[in-house]
Amino acid sequence: MTTDIRTETASSAGPDRQVSPPEDRHATELAFLAAYDSGPRPPSWRLTPRTVVTFVMGSNGEALHLPESAAAPEGVPRRLVVEQKFVGDRALVERCVVTLAGERGLLLVGEPGTAKSMLSELLSAAVCGTSGLVVQGTAGTTEDQLKYGWNYALLLAQGPTRQALVPSPVLTAMTRGAVARVEEITRCLPEVQDALVSLLSERRIAVPELAGGEDALAHAAPGFTLIATANLRDKGVSEMSAALKRRFNFETVGPIGDLDAETALVRRQAHAAVTRAGAPFQVDDAILEALVTAFRDLRDGRSAEGWEVERPSTVMSTAEAVSVAGSLALAAAYFPGDRDVLSLLPGHLLGVVRKDDPADAARLLGYWDGAVRRRAEQGSATWRTLWDLRSVLES
Ligand SMILES: Nc1ncnc2c1ncn2[C@@H]1O[C@H](COP(=O)(O)OP(=O)(O)OP(=O)(O)O)[C@@H](O)[C@H]1O
Ligand SMILES: [Mg+2]
Repeated sequence: MTTDIRTETASSAGPDRQVSPPEDRHATELAFLAAYDSGPRPPSWRLTPRTVVTFVMGSNGEALHLPESAAAPEGVPRRLVVEQKFVGDRALVERCVVTLAGERGLLLVGEPGTAKSMLSELLSAAVCGTSGLVVQGTAGTTEDQLKYGWNYALLLAQGPTRQALVPSPVLTAMTRGAVARVEEITRCLPEVQDALVSLLSERRIAVPELAGGEDALAHAAPGFTLIATANLRDKGVSEMSAALKRRFNFETVGPIGDLDAETALVRRQAHAAVTRAGAPFQVDDAILEALVTAFRDLRDGRSAEGWEVERPSTVMSTAEAVSVAGSLALAAAYFPGDRDVLSLLPGHLLGVVRKDDPADAARLLGYWDGAVRRRAEQGSATWRTLWDLRSVLES
């Protein structure tokens, strides 16, 4: 039982929300894909495994057509281009889907800001129609948050009854045959993680407080599985036990390999940020490309030309690049003509680089004196301007 705290007037995908979950944001695509492929699906799945992959990776710009025999659900078009959401390896997404189809736990590991959480939301929305059965792992996460708690008013009035039981998102997913998500699992204490070991092997949760043998067990319905994420950089409060690791298939989500793909993603998301604000998008492609290039050089410790770059300790993630691009686009929209947008880039880069260790500012300066200077000397106008802005970094 989850409590719905939306106001009466809020529509499910209405503009009165800052962020809509993927099942609302992409409701049309999900309904379309459910009608598009009538092939066999694993128990409780809304879509076939193949269309789950199509939902995440998009239809390559091609319009998909509903087969003649399929009725289009209300409000759903007969042809649709499915938008690409996750930029990355299709084979990785296929493996994730196969893991879930086999009802095994899926663990997405990787550096911060590589879209692990986004991928887990998209997969669960596509498989079971909700990404909302989620527990956020922290050092303060308790076993109750993974299993069940009690409504104390009812508990006092009625004693331990089924009505007084407050299921965790994981228990709800078990009884519905849905996908539960556990974010940042390695931040949970070992004894809390251990609760998942028995849950994932026995596929049931005992509720000893309830009277009556079998009745006191909650069994997992077919289709139940779990997607967890873990951040390599944070290392977490605790390592996962070998027993827990064995119950998951691991997939490592890496940074985006291709410069053009990363630039296109950053442009799309910055565009979306200003469109939400109702303002025009006025950032040149050359600026976005310089921004993404700088992020990639500093992330990889090597420039595209093969020059050595000293890496700062901060992770220069795509997620950070998206947020810097969004800020540049908003600055251009709200303060048009005040300043050249490119002139804002060094300051933003400095802000990101200095997050972990203030000493990293010197590394950024080193990048300027190396790669940025050399590109300026080679005649690139954008990099020439950036080189001229070097003093911003010295303050
Ligand atoms: N490969 C990618 N495909 C699509 N979007 C991406 C990709 N990598 C990063 N992003 C962007 O980064 C944002 C943040 O991703 P998300 O929060 O899911 O990362 P995360 O890996 O869970 O990070 P953390 O480890 O900090 O929790 C996404 O919403 C998206 O805008
Ligand atoms: Mg995350």
